[in-house]
Amino acid sequence: MKKYITMAVLIALCAYSTAEARVKVMGRGAKMNFSADSVPEIHKPAFDLMQVKCIKCHTMERTVIAVQTGRAPITGQPFNKQAVKAYGIKMLRKPNSDMNKKEIRDVVVLLNYFLDENAK
Ligand code: HEC
Repeated sequence: MKKYITMAVLIALCAYSTAEARVKVMGRGAKMNFSADSVPEIHKPAFDLMQVKCIKCHTMERTVIAVQTGRAPITGQPFNKQAVKAYGIKMLRKPNSDMNKKEIRDVVVLLNYFLDENAK
């Protein structure tokens, strides 16, 4: 009997830790966003920047889903660190993106952080 209780506790712990591991998200659909509370102080400026710059052409839902699933929702390409960097450069080149190199770099670092959180 004891064995089963230990097993049950272990399974519960595993389930809990994977649920905890995913990047924290709030809202659904067009309101979907990363949870601001889960963002460490050091990444807050980039997070605020992203809330302004990355919703000009589409909602945050697109970015959240890309991080959560590891796949870019429109093109179906893998969404990993390499892709994040390439996407940042692509955004920078869009004529109306209104972002400079430093802003793009900060958002890329932030998205890499979210990818790490999601993979834990
Ligand atoms: C100038 C308009 C514009 C801005 C600003 C913009 N995007 Fe996009 N985004 C697009 C378009 C258009 C697409 C559709 C696919 C493409 O062109 O890459 C897209 C697609 C995406 C995708 C899915 C990519 C895919 O291949 O499926 C992600 C993720 C994304 N954007 C994140 C961001 C982030 C993060 C930012 C802020 C750094 C941002 N976007 C800012 C226009 C924009």
